[in-house]
Amino acid sequence: MAKGKFLTREEVRAEYEKRAGIYEFAVYLYYLVGFRIGRYRRLAVEAIAPRQGDTVIEIGCGTGMNFPLLREKVGPEGRIIGVDISEAMLKRAAKRIDAAGWKNVELVRSSAADYAFPEGVDGIIATGVLTYEPDYDKVIERGARALAPGKRWVVFDYKMPTGWFRRLVPLFAWISRPFGISLPLFDRTPLESIKRYLRHVKIKEFYFGLIFIASGEAS
Ligand SMILES: C[S@@+](CC[C@H](N)C(=O)[O-])C[C@H]1O[C@@H](n2cnc3c(N)ncnc32)[C@H](O)[C@@H]1O
Repeated sequence: MAKGKFLTREEVRAEYEKRAGIYEFAVYLYYLVGFRIGRYRRLAVEAIAPRQGDTVIEIGCGTGMNFPLLREKVGPEGRIIGVDISEAMLKRAAKRIDAAGWKNVELVRSSAADYAFPEGVDGIIATGVLTYEPDYDKVIERGARALAPGKRWVVFDYKMPTGWFRRLVPLFAWISRPFGISLPLFDRTPLESIKRYLRHVKIKEFYFGLIFIASGEAS
């Protein structure tokens, strides 16, 4: 295991309660080091292949930065359910929903592990979340069972890259420290869980595999 410490679920929640106010600003700072997060969000949402009228669950929705993209795909007839462990992040997501006047975006405060997925959903997405969740493998398995056949689970996250880029991992972890990301979280491998529980897996990698978007289809 890498050096450092895992934060517990409760510690991660506490970090996000404290830092919700600067979360979006901090996300934009990643552009300064070349991470084109907006592009990855778009690719991740497209990987669900959502259609108008679909029901999509976002695990760890945070302040709802993916909602505009998801809402555009599912339209006013669809349904978006955003799940997050942090009340402060959800408060900001609620403001975004109110400001946009969306009537079909719901929020649920829950850890990913405790969330009971509704049956027969049309897509599940988690962006920058699952390495925080100690039971990420079970979450992916349960989500896979809840998806309607042929529908997709999408994870956009980070993992250990290959080659010389590995040397930059401590820098990435350091930049991301305010959000509880540390080297041990690289031992959590949601990508492997996607491969384990879903079929027709598609993977896009960036920065020598540091960033990935993986999606798989439910049978
Ligand atoms: C890096 S932010 C990502 C937010 C959003 N998905 C985005 O792309 O902007 C991580 C989010 O995951 C939430 N989170 C962390 N651990 C969680 C868990 N075990 N269950 C549910 N949400 C969790 C945090 O509260 C935070 O809102």
